[in-house]
Amino acid sequence: MSESVSRVGVVGAGQMGGGIAEVSARAGADVLVWEATEELAAGGRARILKSLDRAVSSGKITERERDQAAERLTFTTDLADFADRQLVVEAIVENEAVKAEIFGKLDEVVTDPDAVLASNTSSLPIQRIATATKNPGRVLGLHFFNPVPVLPLVEVISSLSTSESAAARAEQFASEVLGKQVVRATDRSGFIVNALLVPYLLSAIRMYESGFATAEDIDKGMMLGCAHPMGPLKLADLVGLDTVNFIADAMYAEYKEPTYAAPPLLLRLVEAGYVGKKSGRGIYEYP
Ligand code: CAA
Ligand code: NAD
Repeated sequence: MSESVSRVGVVGAGQMGGGIAEVSARAGADVLVWEATEELAAGGRARILKSLDRAVSSGKITERERDQAAERLTFTTDLADFADRQLVVEAIVENEAVKAEIFGKLDEVVTDPDAVLASNTSSLPIQRIATATKNPGRVLGLHFFNPVPVLPLVEVISSLSTSESAAARAEQFASEVLGKQVVRATDRSGFIVNALLVPYLLSAIRMYESGFATAEDIDKGMMLGCAHPMGPLKLADLVGLDTVNFIADAMYAEYKEPTYAAPPLLLRLVEAGYVGKKSGRGIYEYP
């Protein structure tokens, strides 16, 4: 078995990349985060520092642990800086062409043949991302859940080409370094959780769109009737309606079943730029 991962790269500092970088730094890893521009990197860093402050306020970490985690985080706009990384987790937009381009570059720059190149994709088959590289054995899915510092699960997804040593190294990082619970999923769009969750979110949007009930009552129904921490419409806003739309499209392309088809209201909200909590407005408003 390869040595335990201590040098992590994270591609993208959006909600998920920021969360993955934060939990990795809190766990003691040296974390290098890539963003496309200095401005995006600064925004990502500010969100991570805010989240670390929140963890201090709620008594999860001390001020000293926050400062140490912050010191372990470095930002770059040059993927070539990832040469010495032992594990890279890609967490950029849910778009196959964009991810494939990033994996092609990562495969060229990350020198250690035992390094793992992981995607946090919600729905894109890992096999298709892996074929953008010359070393598909080290490519796999490492799927975290939002918010990353709170939710304990990680799905590990091997493609037909993934080596068992790469999967074992990623699983060891998730469970032993980050302290997450791991499940292994087959390389089918949506894996385990989103294959079940996303049709439910889309059904809730259809229910709301049809005038069946108010958004508040749909959410209240599932929170109080099924003990969910959050209703499906609030959850769709939390995930990001743009991301829900991308995931629905990927799952529809894979399975060709209407249950995965994005409803018109979802399309209109995304077209309007009302993509959920991260933009201040989605199905709900976030003043
Ligand atoms: N980052 C860090 N910590 C956060 C956080 C964030 N963004 N949001 C909430 N927290 C922490 C709070 O600090 C608080 O911690 P303490 O209990 O230690 O004080 C705790 O979480 C609870 O937060 P709140 O009291 O503010 O609010 P809440 O009780 O309503 O919980 C929630 C908020 C954690 C988001 C909860 O509602 C929840 O778990 N919702 C369901 C989320 C979910 O289902 N996520 C999966 C989405 S699907 C996915 O991720 C896969 C995909 O590919 C799309
Ligand atoms: P986000 O909108 O918060 O961030 C998107 C990231 O992609 C940013 O870093 C942005 O700079 C980058 N990006 C956008 N367009 C790009 C381009 N053309 N080239 C390079 N980088 C680009 O999204 P997110 O919620 O962090 O989702 C990121 C990934 O994680 C997606 O694959 C998504 O499916 C997956 N994911 C999301 C959730 C969730 O609940 N939001 C949960 C698990 C997995």
